[in-house]
Amino acid sequence: MMISKLVMATNNAHKLREAMEIFGPLGIEIISQREAGADCSPEENGATFDDNALIKAEAVYNIVRLPVIADDSGLCVDALQGRPGVYSARYAPKGEECVRLLDEMKNVPDEKRQAHFACSIAYIDSEMRRCFNGCCTGMIGYEQRGKNGFGYDPVFIYAGRTLAEMKAEEKNNISHRAAALRELYEFLKERQGE
Ligand code: IMP
Repeated sequence: MMISKLVMATNNAHKLREAMEIFGPLGIEIISQREAGADCSPEENGATFDDNALIKAEAVYNIVRLPVIADDSGLCVDALQGRPGVYSARYAPKGEECVRLLDEMKNVPDEKRQAHFACSIAYIDSEMRRCFNGCCTGMIGYEQRGKNGFGYDPVFIYAGRTLAEMKAEEKNNISHRAAALRELYEFLKERQGE
């Protein structure tokens, strides 16, 4: 039978909402780790998005023993040799990440402003543990635009608009998180058919 409920190992309300919006219509309910009774926030000391996603998923799985997903994601900027990458959440105090990034990028010309968001979704159940990956490629703008989304959305331009200028459904069509969640969904669907 197809899994109908997943616990998401996150304390980030934005990530939770996006996963709910993407999986809800597919018939999979996402509940937060808090709702599932798992009060933990393990140290994310892995070297890669996959490592950190697995650290988070494992910590919650060990408490709830139900199918768990965890998201680790970040922004990789070409002109900054891939920074902030796995350090995206720690790059600047909350709410100041865009300001710092725009400042670091102030002398970078148009043609060198490419960046991508990367997302690893770790999935753990009693039978397996595995990561699914997604990517969204765009450009870093010169100013913050838009009020939706979170984190670096106001400076990340995709097809002429920042992610913060997009409606939730639009971001959820093209985002790194949506791509990784879709990979997981396809896997679960195939496994169910085996
Ligand atoms: P994590 O909780 O360690 O995975 O931190 C990910 C960080 O990357 C977040 O705090 C955001 O700053 C950034 N990030 C990840 N996904 C997104 C997104 O969809 N939009 C904007 N920023 C994101």
